[in-house]
Amino acid sequence: METSRLRSLLDRLHKGTGTIAVLTGAGISAESGIPTFRGPEGYWTVGSTEYRPEQMATHFMFRQDPWEVWSWYLYRRAVCLRAEPNVGHKSIVTMESTLADRMRLITQNVDGLHLRTGNTQERTFQIHGNLHFMRCAHSCSTEIFPIPPSVGLKKRNESVTDEEKSLLVCPRCGSLARPHVLWFDETYNEQHFRADSSLRWAHQADLLLVVGTSGATNLPMQMGEIFSRRPEAIFLDVNPHPNPFREMAEAHPNGLALKGTACEILPVIAELLVTRP
Ligand code: OAD
Ligand code: ZN
Repeated sequence: METSRLRSLLDRLHKGTGTIAVLTGAGISAESGIPTFRGPEGYWTVGSTEYRPEQMATHFMFRQDPWEVWSWYLYRRAVCLRAEPNVGHKSIVTMESTLADRMRLITQNVDGLHLRTGNTQERTFQIHGNLHFMRCAHSCSTEIFPIPPSVGLKKRNESVTDEEKSLLVCPRCGSLARPHVLWFDETYNEQHFRADSSLRWAHQADLLLVVGTSGATNLPMQMGEIFSRRPEAIFLDVNPHPNPFREMAEAHPNGLALKGTACEILPVIAELLVTRP
């Protein structure tokens, strides 16, 4: 790792005032055992057909077959509930403890692990939602509700039981509930997904730290592009594999691509930030 270049970039952050936007994707939870979307386990089989997340994670699919989509989310919820946060997640908690209001965590992950590790709800923008919550599929209100605890921890491709179906309903109007996530055929908004706040941080923060994302979704790519047009800012990408943010970081005058895993690299960044806050 290019620790000396990293150190000198972090030295450019103004002590006591420098602000950081941390943008995470599925890669940060990979070392907790949660499969990434575009890795080998990212597909879902219905009958004899394999679906990719761009097909499963859609309102279109939910309208066709709500219980198949629920089954996919409840299986993923079980995987997430059994997973433990890793040192990558913990390092981001260390960063927030040090930087407080000078940091925002913008996560595409719906696994809830950042909050479970200790990042605060106020400073964590869950831009794709959180699969431990549901809301009314008919939008009778915008309220979100925890998935009832008695809904089971599903195995892969296990069906939703009739009893569970009776629990996965909107507590206000009694009609079908849906996972509280953003689907590919839906648009970002501020109320549920903190989209405007995320863009504001992209325009203002002094440093963008991207961790473990393939850049397949719109808002994260916009954030990367905004930072690419801000030569005075600092642009770091942490990912063992090539991805669009690595290219942006490499093209940026104050950019650095850190080619390793979240658990290898984030403790080093957190340590440098803590000792030079
Ligand atoms: P992807 O599965 O597309 O990408 C995961 C990224 O993590 C890849 O770039 C990997 O190289 C990287 N990676 C793997 N292991 C890593 C490790 N140990 N440390 C660091 N990086 C690692 O996941 P996302 O980019 O998060 O959206 O996917 C974006 C969105 O597409 C998701 O939020 C979801 C999905 O379909 C919606 O559902 C709306
Ligand atoms: Zn309702």
